[in-house]
Amino acid sequence: MKSLRIAIFASGTGSNAEALMNKMKALGKKVEFVLSDKRDALVLEKAMRQGVNTYLVEKTSDRFTHEQEILKLLDRHQIDWIFLAGYMRLISADFLQAVGKRHQRKSQIVNIHPSLLPLYPGSKALERAFADQVVESGVTLHLVDEGMDTGPILMQEKISLESYEAFSDFKMRMHELEHSLYTRFLEQIVLGQIPTNHFKEVSEC
Ligand code: GRF
Repeated sequence: MKSLRIAIFASGTGSNAEALMNKMKALGKKVEFVLSDKRDALVLEKAMRQGVNTYLVEKTSDRFTHEQEILKLLDRHQIDWIFLAGYMRLISADFLQAVGKRHQRKSQIVNIHPSLLPLYPGSKALERAFADQVVESGVTLHLVDEGMDTGPILMQEKISLESYEAFSDFKMRMHELEHSLYTRFLEQIVLGQIPTNHFKEVSEC
């Protein structure tokens, strides 16, 4: 069986990225590369510590040029699946199409979000849900489209909130839930329980 090539895109701390790298390691595999658009992103250090390739692709010009640079990396490493893990940049329809072409039109870019989408899309989802005193929250794993956390939902897991719970505890529980859901999904992919259309070169971008 062809080995699976996973890339992670992240802009920040990288706790999800770390959980994914650890899971790959536990499965006797390695993440192909971690890409960040932020020079000071902690995730880069975490990846380096694990001996995973890292790339910094800062957005110094227009979106098209930025995404073309990323596409070249995906081609060079023949990436099958992209896991967004706190990647603070919207992805264009052109980029999604270009990546889709390499996987025979199957969408293989996923994201994890700390809310029960479609509730609380975008940034500060945890803070907003907590301020609203929701009695239930959860995390969502979804395919990526060009919108902000709007792609088709693949998996969702709920938790109840306790009225006396501190925000820090809620945040910690939600992060743990994210890590467990994202790594479970990764494992299913690696074990072939979720079919992969392997990377196939295309002549034009
Ligand atoms: C996570 O809450 C993830 O759901 C969201 O961004 C956050 C990234 O956290 N998309 P980390 O960098 O993985 O710790």
